[in-house]
Amino acid sequence: MPIDFYKKLKEAGIAFTFRDFILIPGLSEIEPSQVDLSTNFTRNLRLNIPLVSSPMDTVTEAEMAIALARQGGIGIIHRNMPIEDQVEVVKRVKRAESFIIRDVFTISPDQNVGDAINLMKKHNISGLPVVDGDKLVGIVTKRDVNFASLDEKISNVMTKDVITAEENVTIEEAKRIMHKHKIEKLPVVSKDKRLLGLITIKDIYSREKYSLASRDREGRLLVGAALSPLDIRRAKSLDKYVDVLVSDVAHFHNRNILKAAAKLVKEVSVDFVIGNVGTYKAVEDAVTTIDRIDGIRVGIGSGSSCITSELTKAGAPTLFAIAQVSMALQKYNLSIPIIADGGIRTPGDAALALAAGASSVMMGNVFAGCAESPGELIKIGGKYYKPYRGMGSLSARMKRFALDRYSYPAKGVIEGVEGVVPYRGDVQSVVEEFVNGLKAAFGYAGAKNIAELWEKAEFGAVTTAGLEELKPHDIILPGEEKI
Ligand code: XMP
Repeated sequence: MPIDFYKKLKEAGIAFTFRDFILIPGLSEIEPSQVDLSTNFTRNLRLNIPLVSSPMDTVTEAEMAIALARQGGIGIIHRNMPIEDQVEVVKRVKRAESFIIRDVFTISPDQNVGDAINLMKKHNISGLPVVDGDKLVGIVTKRDVNFASLDEKISNVMTKDVITAEENVTIEEAKRIMHKHKIEKLPVVSKDKRLLGLITIKDIYSREKYSLASRDREGRLLVGAALSPLDIRRAKSLDKYVDVLVSDVAHFHNRNILKAAAKLVKEVSVDFVIGNVGTYKAVEDAVTTIDRIDGIRVGIGSGSSCITSELTKAGAPTLFAIAQVSMALQKYNLSIPIIADGGIRTPGDAALALAAGASSVMMGNVFAGCAESPGELIKIGGKYYKPYRGMGSLSARMKRFALDRYSYPAKGVIEGVEGVVPYRGDVQSVVEEFVNGLKAAFGYAGAKNIAELWEKAEFGAVTTAGLEELKPHDIILPGEEKI
């Protein structure tokens, strides 16, 4: 059979990108303030806002994950570090807040004040329950140790009559007890005085302050971690602590990776997100190979720090990828949430991604510019920036290979660039900008939530010439005046 190359070219579909489309306004019965942006990140994890930070070493470590989860989204901790470090970062997020802290730092009555001060400093805490074996016998706070000599025994400075709560205490009760006794820490004990956990007033206030935060059943913030599906050891180490494992390979539709992922899901219990994929066929092969898929990360080559498509001419732009993946999921009658990853610069891009079938959007560039991303502020010509680099960039890869001898370079090519992005302020203000923009977009589309947007969204294709008209034009903006 001759191969008809001409036909292949002539009949090629269009690999749509965010810049090719707009949302056509529809009849609206709702105001933006009535829009509900809550969504599923995975089959089992619910978020109040559809925003996710990319697993990149200039984007998501503990500080970013904590800040974003407090706003209702979720951060995915990058994997450019040894397994033990990634587990530690995940634990830091989990420890940031909870109603009842379970892995409480404690001290014994025979230790001394110096030990208590060191522990408090090391873990940045202000008090320690005192335990004899597993029985609660007292509590020491900064106030108790501040003026005592370092070698004084804890049993001499601790408060012995500790106010405690029982395991099934409610938040309201805990708050009432703490107010009544003017205390900031409330140990939770069993009937026979075994220490079961600790409630702090700080955590209770934080719950009230961040009422939309993404939390697990224990009130701890949700967090995800990235990994290669080939890295079973990493998966097993993270499984106990993290809420979701997110595959972090550029081309998931690869037989070895599919097989590895099929094996991995059998060994872990938390949710597993596959990715990145970009085609109907990739989903078809994934769902028929892997027993359990809880989310799908889609988009290849659209990332702002990505040179994959430029270099290889291979890619599945995020908007095209979402539509392809949605189609495959509908064919197989599966409702697995889609995470749109790469190329999202504005709330409008995020709205298009959701309108095309995604449940959430993952952003690297946007969050890299926040105060909470790793990396120092850089001042260039009177303006502030933060570093941002692709995980396939030379320097990011050099770091990984130096740290992790198991991550042998599979490819000899560099697929990312490194540079800086404008500083955007803190995560809270960036989230506000996106949430307000999304709600306005939903308002135009006449949709009160994401599921309704999927049904109601109508798209308009924009020509290259038209793109110019759809942004500010024929006006000189401040800072652009030329004298
Ligand atoms: P944005 O556009 O938000 O995209 O900056 C973030 C996403 O880009 C992907 N990523 C890469 N893609 N080479 C690539 O081809 C890279 O070096 C690279 N680093 C990150 C990744 O999916 C991320 O979430």
